[in-house]
Amino acid sequence: MMTPDQLRQKYLDFFQARDHAIVPSAPLVPENDPTTLFTGSGMQPMVPYLLGQEHPLGKRIADSQKCFRAEDIEEVGDNRHTTFFEMLGNWSLGDYFKTQQLSWFFEFLTEELNLDPSRLYVTVFAGNQQLKIGKDQQSVQLWQQLFAKHNIKAKVVDQAEQQGLQNGRIFYYDETKNWWSRAGVPADMPVGEPGGPDSELFYDFGLAQGFHQRSEFKDQPCHVNCDCGRFLEIGNSVFMQYQKTKTGFQELPQKNVDFGGGFERILAAVQDDPDIFKTQLFQPVITKLEQLTNQSYADASELAKHPFRVIADHVRAAVMLIADGVKPGNKEQSYFVRRLLRRAVRYGKQLELEKPFLGDLVTTVAEIYAKPYPEVQEQQEQIQQVVTKEEQNFHRTLNKGLKKFQQAIDDLQQLDAQTAFELYQTYGFPLELSLEEAKQAQIKIESKIKDKFAQLKKQHAQQSRTASAGKFKGGLEDQSVVTTQYHTATHLLHAALRKILGDQVEQRGSNITAKRLRFDFSHTKPLTATQIQQVEDQVNDWIDQDLPINKQTMSKAAALKAGALAFFVERYPAEVDVYTIGDPDKEWVSKELCGGPHVSSTGEIDQLKIFKEKSAAAGVRRIYAKT
Ligand code: ALA
Repeated sequence: MMTPDQLRQKYLDFFQARDHAIVPSAPLVPENDPTTLFTGSGMQPMVPYLLGQEHPLGKRIADSQKCFRAEDIEEVGDNRHTTFFEMLGNWSLGDYFKTQQLSWFFEFLTEELNLDPSRLYVTVFAGNQQLKIGKDQQSVQLWQQLFAKHNIKAKVVDQAEQQGLQNGRIFYYDETKNWWSRAGVPADMPVGEPGGPDSELFYDFGLAQGFHQRSEFKDQPCHVNCDCGRFLEIGNSVFMQYQKTKTGFQELPQKNVDFGGGFERILAAVQDDPDIFKTQLFQPVITKLEQLTNQSYADASELAKHPFRVIADHVRAAVMLIADGVKPGNKEQSYFVRRLLRRAVRYGKQLELEKPFLGDLVTTVAEIYAKPYPEVQEQQEQIQQVVTKEEQNFHRTLNKGLKKFQQAIDDLQQLDAQTAFELYQTYGFPLELSLEEAKQAQIKIESKIKDKFAQLKKQHAQQSRTASAGKFKGGLEDQSVVTTQYHTATHLLHAALRKILGDQVEQRGSNITAKRLRFDFSHTKPLTATQIQQVEDQVNDWIDQDLPINKQTMSKAAALKAGALAFFVERYPAEVDVYTIGDPDKEWVSKELCGGPHVSSTGEIDQLKIFKEKSAAAGVRRIYAKT
């Protein structure tokens, strides 16, 4: 059986042999990108290069990127949804296009992984007159040729949504299915955002499994995109050649390919088992849960498998996020770590796990990822501490919630949807838990409580989606200039801190929004008012001097030799971009390994004001500043 490490390596080797440079995964929290909270797809760190900036390693790049999709949190529990996943990626930055992309991916699946071509189905973009973008007939032809090599006559089918599979192999869908951008369909894309039509590939787990009859879609025809579970999308080739404008779309300066393959799902296809939780990426965690609970996963009904899967997914995601520097808390990224851990505890209750158990699972997750992400094992103990502390705190909250529940019940003499929803929101009480408690206490339950609860949840979800969509758009539309200024300002701030406080100061993290910059650095004491003033003056002095910013591409070794600062050195590829503020060969004030983008001279930045300085962690200070 192929192990996860073998599959990942096979993919990278395949593309390396086709002249792709292999880059390490970027962190789960995008650096210096306020537009999204998490890296949600492989292309996120590639955006500047898809838009035309030159990549230091050339026009062909491949990787396996860690991703987190917070919006899928409620979906977890079935055989295929996860919040954290790895995306196998390959990119052509204005180099190859459809022909090579589709044939390489097909070759990889059928020849390297030996997947049966008769189990593969594909979709292509049906075109849109309003967008003035035609049907993707070229991809159809390419797919037909590829299937023909295996003596498969690939029938092309339209309207599968209404009429089902119709013995087709290649399916046309509109932009709700076969268009990809970070913001989704063309209408939702902010100005400046890249996107394009795509071609998705699905693996067929077979009719025999009876997915469709058991699913909520059983009254409609089955088709590859119907979500009944029979067909699993395992890869998406995006032909990223457009950029949203105020009035429509324009062609990007180059035709790109952005490919993303679901690592967990491809592994499931290789095993020909639709349950991704049976792959080696999860099995060790499931086994540990079986030991802790004395229950068998294999013997559990589909529904009884849910708590196992939720815990396995949530623990893995939380561990990965914490390893990338996110702690549980109430704001932004931190909130999701908290939610993941709390949900895991709650689902633990369903398995009758009463004592803290998550810490035990951290070790298992770290072991699974020892090879590709050794940083997880290196921080294992700290991660365990964070997880266990959060778990213990939540137990206290849960107990408080139970008291609250009792009070609410005493007052109302019944459980209504509003109370149940408040308990869910504030204390993480799932509806089932409230219903159970109510039954045990023999209290009346409001009629249609499930429907009403679902309604409240939907309303709330809509509100938060609007909020996050706003965040996304707000980030890209008109603030990229401000963001770039702040990014360069962090380099100045870093240099000033080292000048005033000493060279032992090192960057520990940074985060930029359109309103301010945040910068973490190693330092054991609070800064004095004088030091803060000196740092601020120094930064503003450099801004006044209107120093040039230069980008050079060189080997990592040469960059370090030239005195460039690099944090998380291991994250950078062999060839790197170095940004110098000042004269790169003579007098410079800052030289750092960095992916950009930056302003071209410091005079483009407004005067900076430090408005807060505080502790961020033991030995780490945090500065907030704005222009
Ligand atoms: N960026 C594309 C996706 O996430 C490949 O599906």
